[in-house]
Amino acid sequence: MMNNTARAHTNIALIKYWGKKDADLRLPLMSSISMTLDAFYTDTNLVLDTEDKRFYLNGELVTGKASERVISYVERLQKLFHVSGNFHVISQNHVPTSAGLASSSSAFAALAASFVKAYQLDISKKGLSILARLGSGSATRSIFGGFAIWHQGQNSATSFGEAIDETPEMDLRMIAVELNTKQKKISSTQGMEMAKTSPFFIPWIHENEAQIIDMKAAIENNDFTSLGELAEQNASQMHAVNLACETPFTYFEPETVALIHLVQDLRKQGLECYYTIDAGPNVKILTELRNSKEIQKAVKQLLPTVKIVESGFGPGIQYLNEQ
Ligand code: DP6
Repeated sequence: MMNNTARAHTNIALIKYWGKKDADLRLPLMSSISMTLDAFYTDTNLVLDTEDKRFYLNGELVTGKASERVISYVERLQKLFHVSGNFHVISQNHVPTSAGLASSSSAFAALAASFVKAYQLDISKKGLSILARLGSGSATRSIFGGFAIWHQGQNSATSFGEAIDETPEMDLRMIAVELNTKQKKISSTQGMEMAKTSPFFIPWIHENEAQIIDMKAAIENNDFTSLGELAEQNASQMHAVNLACETPFTYFEPETVALIHLVQDLRKQGLECYYTIDAGPNVKILTELRNSKEIQKAVKQLLPTVKIVESGFGPGIQYLNEQ
């Protein structure tokens, strides 16, 4: 069996992608900035010339919608490059606890990279980020380590990811608090479509340009406080958009709100930390190394059964077992 295994790390957006101008091409209405994490990653091997098309995740055959999305994505790439044939997608999610924090960002970045290797295509990282984008928007950024930006662009060729700083000096830790592992009720793809009915959607898009400039400056100046404040503000705005939709919805659970209050309280006590929240109830707390243990203790005190994973900066796309 050919080993085309690619490893991609999950990224968490600090300035979020929440809205598309083209759903099929996954062209976003805004640029986004992320931190790639070292604690969460996906290894994927695309095996060609098999007897059928299958998707295995963590050793088990996947069926239904999740499998269809993966298989039709590979078929789409095959069409783009004028190749064909059956294949197996063999993926392993490396998530320290359960699957609640696994993300499509690492999944489609690893799959795109494995595809390129399997067909021995000569593609730059920028090109690879464009291919990853077609699978899931956030995957665009997982091609790069450290801090990455996804330029929204105007068409498929100009909507790509780029490294801002792959080996940042900033003392930045992300404490992921996993509240529950239930399947999310509204996918990010669905949530983004619903968000368009919110009266806050246009203002949300308008805020983006300034937030991107400010976040870039915070990264450049090694300014954790500005980074945290901006990330928290941006996430709160995204969730406010959702609450104001025609059919209002929220990803927050009661524990999500309890953690928001905890972060605010800890800050008042002098433990500097900020939160960001994506399309689910889990809370990611941004902090510096010196405060990390104490913050985790406070989280455990408030919610003794949650799972906590601390993460630093992860690398960009890698190929395993080069041969
Ligand atoms: C809230 O990348 O999962 O995490 O492109 O529809 O697959 P699709 O969406 P996805 O959305 C991520 C949304 C987010 C913010 C972000 O990662 O930028």
